[in-house]
Amino acid sequence: MNLPPVRPASPVSDAPGPTDPAPGVATAVPPSAPPSDPGLEKTLAAFSDLAYRDAFWPSRAYEDACDRIAVRSLLPPSGGRLIDVGAGYGRLADEYAGYREVVLLDASEPHLQAARERFAGDPRVSVVAGDAFQLPFPDASFDAAVCIRVLHHFEDPGQAIRELGRIVRPGGVLILESANKRNLKSVIAYWLRRQDWSPFARGSRRYAGVRLLPRGSRADRGTRRAVLARAGAPVAPWSAPVSYVHSPRDLRIGLRRAGFGTPRTRSVGLLRLPVLTAGAPAGLLVALERVLQPVLAPVTAGPSIILGAVRLPAAPPPSGGPATAHDPRA
Ligand SMILES: C[S@@+](CC[C@H](N)C(=O)[O-])C[C@H]1O[C@@H](n2cnc3c(N)ncnc32)[C@H](O)[C@@H]1O
Repeated sequence: MNLPPVRPASPVSDAPGPTDPAPGVATAVPPSAPPSDPGLEKTLAAFSDLAYRDAFWPSRAYEDACDRIAVRSLLPPSGGRLIDVGAGYGRLADEYAGYREVVLLDASEPHLQAARERFAGDPRVSVVAGDAFQLPFPDASFDAAVCIRVLHHFEDPGQAIRELGRIVRPGGVLILESANKRNLKSVIAYWLRRQDWSPFARGSRRYAGVRLLPRGSRADRGTRRAVLARAGAPVAPWSAPVSYVHSPRDLRIGLRRAGFGTPRTRSVGLLRLPVLTAGAPAGLLVALERVLQPVLAPVTAGPSIILGAVRLPAAPPPSGGPATAHDPRA
């Protein structure tokens, strides 16, 4: 699949926003355009089949519930038009039951096809091929946008946040998930000098996890893979090809620059430790997670962070200054 033009990446850059797409809802992206970010081809290769649906999620009831708890606490339960950007096969679509119209957008054809089949009988849901960096929708055309488990594929979250901000109307809401650079495991690894970069610094970081305890130690027996294998459970072969962690501060700045107010935060997946997720009852973990998410939100210690922010009314242009292309008076 070919996708719209490449934009240079920089951590939460303040570069001018993307070119406006043609008004109206496109059902496919332009056929001759190159990909939007250097990692996209690799990312799409990982989603060229449905292993993410069929192998990754079946053994992750706790992680799935974590996302849903946060989404339910941040997203208004009902509304007009909602878009899920990077929706995949539509895992979270049942969370949008109170919305009049739901758009599931993704760049992976197999996932789009799976979503089309899943929602074939639901007239509220449309499935759209597109790129998160160049959404095929006019400005301010949605009441709500959701983007979960997608930003970690991007080196520069600021570009994607700006584009999401463009399509959300003033007063509308954006729910945004990111892998958290300042997660507790990274903090401990940094303090133990097992990680040479600071999780507190701004900027995004390529990330493949961190090992707190020596390879081959008894603790290694507690890895998810080892525990699941001992229990005879299928081990998911799927893994993200390109993965970045983003700083919570950068995400907040990105939201502010994209025109959003101060976000509400949820620290997500706090109990995502292999010994727990493979050994303890998921129901117990989920009950604990429900309590911990809001309580620990200020310290954002979880591996994932979900932010919910409301789009502010557009600031009027400086008096006497030129009107911009986004200015309704232009
Ligand atoms: C880890 S999956 C998450 C899917 C879904 N949001 C969920 O939480 O189950 C990431 C999804 O992002 C999509 N994706 C990655 N880069 C994208 C881009 N530039 N534009 C649109 N979708 C993209 C992938 O195709 C994949 O379906």
